[in-house]
Amino acid sequence: RNMDVSTFVDSNGGLIDRAIYNEPAIYAQEQRRIFARSWLFLAHTSQFKKPGDFFTTFMGEDPIIVTMDKTKKIRAYLNSCRHRGVRLCRADAGATKMFTCSYHGWSFDLAGALKTVPNEKAYPEDFDKNKWSLIEVPNVQEYKGLIFGNWDHEAEPLEEALGDMRYYMDAMLDRDPEGTEVMGGVMKWELDGNWKLAAEQFATDWYHVNMSHASALMVLSPTGKGPKPEIAATPGRQFVSENGHGAGFPTHPKSRFDARPVHEYYDYEMLRERLGDAAVEGPMTTGHATVFPNFSYLPVNGSIRVWHPKGPNKIEVWAWVLVDKSMPDDVKDAQRLYNLRTFGPSGIFEADDGENWSEIQAISGGFVTNRVPLNFQMGIGSEREDGVYPGKTSELYSDAAGRAFYKHWAKIMNTPAWHERNK
Ligand code: FES
Repeated sequence: RNMDVSTFVDSNGGLIDRAIYNEPAIYAQEQRRIFARSWLFLAHTSQFKKPGDFFTTFMGEDPIIVTMDKTKKIRAYLNSCRHRGVRLCRADAGATKMFTCSYHGWSFDLAGALKTVPNEKAYPEDFDKNKWSLIEVPNVQEYKGLIFGNWDHEAEPLEEALGDMRYYMDAMLDRDPEGTEVMGGVMKWELDGNWKLAAEQFATDWYHVNMSHASALMVLSPTGKGPKPEIAATPGRQFVSENGHGAGFPTHPKSRFDARPVHEYYDYEMLRERLGDAAVEGPMTTGHATVFPNFSYLPVNGSIRVWHPKGPNKIEVWAWVLVDKSMPDDVKDAQRLYNLRTFGPSGIFEADDGENWSEIQAISGGFVTNRVPLNFQMGIGSEREDGVYPGKTSELYSDAAGRAFYKHWAKIMNTPAWHERNK
């Protein structure tokens, strides 16, 4: 029932078969071997202030309730009633004391325990409510405000799975001693395309910027002419992780944020003391990044997002605006507006990316089309320890993190997961 996907991915040679984007059997295998065993982003801690606060999301296609229990612990449950399987909580977010099913009225408390069964006396004498608790995600861990869940109870701890990626994430998550918070609600929109196209691009692809976003760059350029040709020689680095994560960023001796009030708010000297010169001159501002498999972010505008898979050909994007807690309200609002104008659902950059992914996907069903491999050969052999940035890095313009993303993807697609062990 499981396919050997190594025939589709030549990560050393930089060749990827596009069947991995639209083959239904591969998509089904991803649900079992990628999403059922990887650390998946669930929510931000600032979404939970008191017991009973909840947020509903997905791990792969599995519906999830994330909530704070009475002891203030964040817990996650399968959002499906144990009786006949109705989606238990239909709200996007809110506060409650109990989760009560809309079909027959079974009620579960914040610890997932089944508390009320209407007409319980009609059940057999040995009916035990303790055996019908909500299915709980066994592993929920936090890294600097970001809450991740993993169905594998034996998974390596989140911080180990992130590894050196933490350094690059810290450039966004650790600028403020008070930490971060999300503002407003979650922006959600759909794209035609496979989830990996988006995750891979945010891990590795600075190459597309000058072409795909040419019009947006012209709008932003003071001369109206867009960037100068030398932009293609912009120095920078790309972090390459054997766990499939990736981050790319130009390196500037003078770092800056694009939204003027945000730029003026920061004390860059203090940030240098806190994060180190290399972090401030690199991953703190205009980078892009993906935490394998489907969580991505952009430090310059505080966009954090999940690429929820909805079938091989569809992505549902869920995006939040992340800001530093200590920022004054007007600075937070400036960041939120800059975020919406650039990478919100109708942002001038965002639409360019989705258009390309949809175009790849739209023609991936053709027989001949599907026999032609895609090229991920930029920067082959360039991965190295550069002595400045942690882990292995490559050039800004490189497919190195993309190759590593697919290498890790293929490795775990070909490895039995927790639910297949001892069978
Ligand atoms: Fe939930 Fe029956 S399906 S109570």
